[in-house]
Order: sequence, then C-alpha cells, then structure tokens
Amino acid sequence: MKKIILTGDRPTGKLHIGHYVGSLENRVRLQNTNEYDTYIMIADSQALTDNARNPQKVKENVMQVALDYLAVGLDPEKSTFFIQSQVPELTEISFYFMNLVTVSRLQRNPTVKSEIAMRNFEASIPVGFFTYPISQSADILGMNSDIVPAGEDQKPMLEQAREIANTFNNTYGNLFKMPEIMLPTNENARRLPGLDGNSKMSKSLNNCIYISDDEDVLKQKVMSMYTDPNHIKVTDKGKVEGNMVFYYLDIFADDKEKVEEMKSHYERGGLGDVVCKKYLFEVLNNKLKPMRERRKYYEERPEIVMEMLRVGTEKARKRYSEVLKQMKHLIGIDYFD
Ligand code: TRP
Repeated sequence: MKKIILTGDRPTGKLHIGHYVGSLENRVRLQNTNEYDTYIMIADSQALTDNARNPQKVKENVMQVALDYLAVGLDPEKSTFFIQSQVPELTEISFYFMNLVTVSRLQRNPTVKSEIAMRNFEASIPVGFFTYPISQSADILGMNSDIVPAGEDQKPMLEQAREIANTFNNTYGNLFKMPEIMLPTNENARRLPGLDGNSKMSKSLNNCIYISDDEDVLKQKVMSMYTDPNHIKVTDKGKVEGNMVFYYLDIFADDKEKVEEMKSHYERGGLGDVVCKKYLFEVLNNKLKPMRERRKYYEERPEIVMEMLRVGTEKARKRYSEVLKQMKHLIGIDYFD
C-alpha cells in the first residue's frame, strides 16, 4: 500500500511565494513521484476558529486557495483536494480526542501561544481556536497519514497529533500510526522573510509576493525590497547578509554561479541595487508566469474547480469514516454494528 500524505492550508488569503518554497513546491515534487497517496485539505473549519464573524472571507478564499494549488502544478489526477467543513466525521473524531488532551497541554503549544499573542486574544480566546490543535490532530490521524509536509511552525501540531495517537492506542487499542512531519529541504526556505526583511512573509504584515501577482505588481514589489540601507551610492560597498534581494536570489535563481558573482561584486562596490532587483524580478517572473497562466485557465472555469473539490471531498470522507468506525469500535460505542 502507498504511504499517505496529508497536508493543508487555512483559506484566509491567497497563497504567497513563502507558501510555495516552504511547502507547495515540495508537494508537487512528492505528487509527481507517484509513491504516495496525497490528500490536500482546505482547512476552512480551522480558518473559522479565528474568523467566526467573517465566514464570507473564508468562503471566498476556499476558491482562491484551490486556484493557487492548480496554479503551482498540483494535479487533481494525482492529488486529492478536499474541503474540511464538508467532512463531518472530522468533528466527531475531534470530540473523542478532546477527552485525551488536557487544558494545560494545549496552553503549552508554542504555535497557539504565538498566534494568541499575534491576535491580541489574551483572555478572549474562542474555545474553538484554543482547541484547534486537537482538530488538526483529527485531520492528520483520521486519515491515518504517514507524512505531513509542512513548515516548521507546524511541528507542535505534529507533536500533539503523535501524543494523541499514543494515548488513544494505549487507552483503547492499537489503531494509529505515528505521523512524521516533512520539512522543506532548503533550510533558507523554511521561513521565507518578507519583502521588508521582517522574519516572516505574512499577509497581516503586508510584505508578501502572491503566486497570483501580475507582472506589474511583481515588479513594483521587487523594486521596493529591503536591501542594505547603507548602500547608497553604486560605488559603496554593500552588505549581502540580511539583504532580501540576495536572500531571494539564493532560493529562487537556478544560476547559482551568477548569484555568487553578483554577491561579491556587490560587496566590493560598483553593483547597484536596481540591477540586482531587475535580475530577481526576471527570475521570479519566469517562475510565476506559467503559474499565472494555469491559474487564469481555472479562474475562468470555476465549475471545474468546484467539481474537483466535490469529488475529492467524497473520497477523503470515505477514509475518515473508515477510521472513525474503527475508533468507535475500539472505544466500544459501536452499539448498532
Ligand atoms: N494549520 C495549518 C496552517 O495553518 C493548516 C492545516 C489544517 C493543516 N489541518 C492540517 C496542515 C493538517 C497540515 C495537516 O497552515
């Protein structure tokens, strides 16, 4: 049997190139090895845990995220895309998992901690948001997945899932495998900084390049990137470290020799920011152009996208209901079977 891959994204906005190098690129590669059964969840229920009063935003972005998947080359013939909220089994699985996790354990989750701080939730954390690591454990374990390709920030979620798997297995009988996280291979790409040099590319920080950005927007964003603030005249010696243009070139440019050459020229002095930025624009635009075109094709055919999601959701649901059935059997609440 093929190993199961499960991963997903919250539909709260379009996906950006940080998502691309941090995870989407890896997913496409894994999908094309044909060695795995790949499931990709659009986690709209999770998105609602901190957007309960804005369901319209979440709904709109389900389509946007699906379009981004197709744009980067994820292929419904090879991967299964599905919508979390349309799998009611997930809620049921979560409900039984809730009994296996303590409040203090949830309070220790570093990802949740930093998200609470970022959203200024403090005392007003919605219960649903607080417990989303349990729901995410249901996403992962309910599929009995082997591998979860995701960014560094998802490590605590995997730990939580593995703990729940262990507790369940010890309490009710052996059912769950121990899923593993698969981090992006490129160290620098694990957390792509934003255009402004801020440590994370993020919609809320307004420092993103989106996969769907058109050529003009891309150019304008690259031209505004954070470089070396002390590199004023072209003849000045420049700093490469912390310079976003070179950081991005290291990740995105295929011609590594040319990048190294540019770096030493920049450090010696005599190489202007504009030249470097123009090259970066070219590199990024070459990558994004075919994605834009694929995106446009599906944008004009939303019914194909919806049908793909419907079929995928049905398939995912079958697997989740299998596992749920086994869970209930092991717990002993399978009265009518
Ligand atoms: N928490 C993930 C994010 O914020 C989204 C997600 C939901 C997920 N369920 C998942 C990721 C299951 C991996 C596996 O992007």
